[in-house]
Amino acid sequence: KSELRLGIAGLGTVGANVAQLIERKSDLLAERVGRTIRVTAISARDRDRRRGFDTDGMAWFDDPLTLAREAAIDAFVELIGGSEGVVHEAVKAALERGIPVVTANKALLAHHGVELAKLAAANGTEILFEAAVAGGIPAIKTMREALSANEVNRVYGILNGTCNYILTRMEKEGIGFDACLKDAQALGYAEADPTFDIGGYDAAHKLAILTSLAFGTEISLESIFVEGISRITIADILAASELGYRIKLLAVALRTDSGIEQRVHPAMIPARSALAQIDGVTNAVAIDSDLLGSILLAGPGAGGAATSSAVLSDIMDVAGGFVPPTLGVPPARLQPYQRARMRAHE
Ligand code: HSE
Repeated sequence: KSELRLGIAGLGTVGANVAQLIERKSDLLAERVGRTIRVTAISARDRDRRRGFDTDGMAWFDDPLTLAREAAIDAFVELIGGSEGVVHEAVKAALERGIPVVTANKALLAHHGVELAKLAAANGTEILFEAAVAGGIPAIKTMREALSANEVNRVYGILNGTCNYILTRMEKEGIGFDACLKDAQALGYAEADPTFDIGGYDAAHKLAILTSLAFGTEISLESIFVEGISRITIADILAASELGYRIKLLAVALRTDSGIEQRVHPAMIPARSALAQIDGVTNAVAIDSDLLGSILLAGPGAGGAATSSAVLSDIMDVAGGFVPPTLGVPPARLQPYQRARMRAHE
């Protein structure tokens, strides 16, 4: 099979990291998907910035829409963020060409996800978004694949790493809100506009995506109750602690008699519960379903490498239906079949 040519739009924390990893892990990725993955087109705001990967042989585009429309690529990787304008247009343009899209953009999906999924299907392609919810945690693949025989009754958790990082440091180190937020920004956790994090909107975007997958519903951001953490003080956290609780920004969606209820708000949760143990930038996604009961997935919810892990797994899916490693068989995609055929000829 020929190589997979990628166009990456957006070279911030995640985009630059994905490009670096494709360079650094190129042999391993090629071995596992049976073809070479190469970045052939890029677009970002500042052309001259050094980003830690070799841009030789990559076509530069001043804007993502032209890249999506014109670049010679087999997949479009959108890591710019933001739900409207040129980002939305670029993703649509790629799908209209029948080019698969991999994105980490929860705001875009929360506003236009259903429309984009329909556009992808109409053009015989797909939009993949594992990285859009809870960073590196495989929440989307779990929901779409592992739980496929289940009916989900509730999905909830801690979906914003920046808020959880801030709340944890306020509690454990007594550091004020603003200083914690600055550190979260310096570590590359926060959104370009951090009010999306602390206002609860980023968690609401992710919840909207999980809800739509869990219950098969249209996405309705307006129906989510949203309250962020900006009014939480160290005094609140200590008072909760004295009562045996910790304060977390929770995102909850559940089936009720009158429909699907969705909300994001700070909540006092019992200090001994599993969710209360989720500290720092870690996220957690809990899912209650009819056959499996309750599961809790926890892990790094933001940051370059963890988010890149999810982006790369989607890129590998696009590269050709990655057949996962099975017992005793190396994970190279074509090997099991080739071996079987070779044995048949013996
Ligand atoms: N700003 C987001 C967070 C990044 O803090 O969780 C990951 O989506």
